[in-house]
Amino acid sequence: MKTQFFSVKDPRDPALQTVGAILRNGGLAAIPTETVYGLAANALCDDAVRGIFRAKGRPADNPLIVHISDLSQWDALVTEVPDAAKRLAAAYWPGPLTIILPKSGRVSDVVSGGLPTVAVRMPSHPIARTVIDAAGVPLAAPSANTSGRPSPTTAQHVKDDLDGKIDCIVDAGPCPIGVESTVVSLAGDKPRLLRPGGVTPEMLEAVLGEIDIDDAVFHRLADNETAASPGMKYKHYAPLARVVILKGSFAQFRQYVDAHKTPGTMALCFAGEEGDLPVPAIAFGEAGDDAAQAARIFAALRELDKRGATTVFARFPQTDGVGLAVFNRLVRAAAFQIIDLGGAP
Ligand code: TXA
Ligand code: MG
Repeated sequence: MKTQFFSVKDPRDPALQTVGAILRNGGLAAIPTETVYGLAANALCDDAVRGIFRAKGRPADNPLIVHISDLSQWDALVTEVPDAAKRLAAAYWPGPLTIILPKSGRVSDVVSGGLPTVAVRMPSHPIARTVIDAAGVPLAAPSANTSGRPSPTTAQHVKDDLDGKIDCIVDAGPCPIGVESTVVSLAGDKPRLLRPGGVTPEMLEAVLGEIDIDDAVFHRLADNETAASPGMKYKHYAPLARVVILKGSFAQFRQYVDAHKTPGTMALCFAGEEGDLPVPAIAFGEAGDDAAQAARIFAALRELDKRGATTVFARFPQTDGVGLAVFNRLVRAAAFQIIDLGGAP
């Protein structure tokens, strides 16, 4: 299949109507959102949605997020929109938040991975919203990467993974947030955070009161545990290199890297530290700047692969604010390998 490219700056660009028609007719389009690029298909067409799983090599039991551009589309997808969900949507939609509720009969098991629930999100990116409007149907869209690879934050990342496998790619520049949406389930007795993202736990609690944080946010699930969010059980966001996170000061980091470096060793460090390390280094944002770290983390992981790193020593990111999402992704890229060097970070 030949993949068409559309470079779009303005949501009024007529190319977006073409993309909407491709989607309505069952095609696959990679589109920018404020979080990461998504691989979209008509959520009401099983054949189209199966195409997403095929193109990504995604396991069929890993459910997809359904994207809407108007609140009225939500009612048809779920059995009921409870009060707490309405309040959350009023506070954070459109934006980087996905809300899980029991699904209606309109959502097929292909979309929900066989679960009785459906994840819904209203993105804020003007181009994503225009494409959903133009398609005239809700769009199922996972991140537009090959399954297991870091999520794409530029159209080039999408091209590197999916060129020739999908109908089109819409390029609107880098995604501003850079990590995927916060996923919260309101399908159980108590709200539960399944994946941290741009909407922080504090922001959720401001609306919902106390929430539970799923174990999978911090820990590796044992083989016999079932994941509340199936995506959390897979090795994820992984570059080809072995990644090890080192917790400690910059001086300790530099010393450890120097003592343990081999020819393929590279560092994943904070901006400004690159020149002061004994191995080639790529930065993922300034120390203490959680938004910058989120925006850079996936591109940095992909860059390490491009440069042929075999072992990557990474700085320990902060874990508050959006930093929790950065930590969650990096610790998965590192297969939960963290070495504590002692001392202050
Ligand atoms: O920011 C985002 O959320 C991006 C953009 C494109 O919107 N999408 C995205 O989708 O990250 P994906 O498929 O890469 O991640 C969705 C996550 C997976 O971990 C999946 O298992 C979980 O959400 N999920 C989806 N539906 C679910 C459900 N009904 N119950 C529990 N987890 C669900
Ligand atoms: Mg993904």
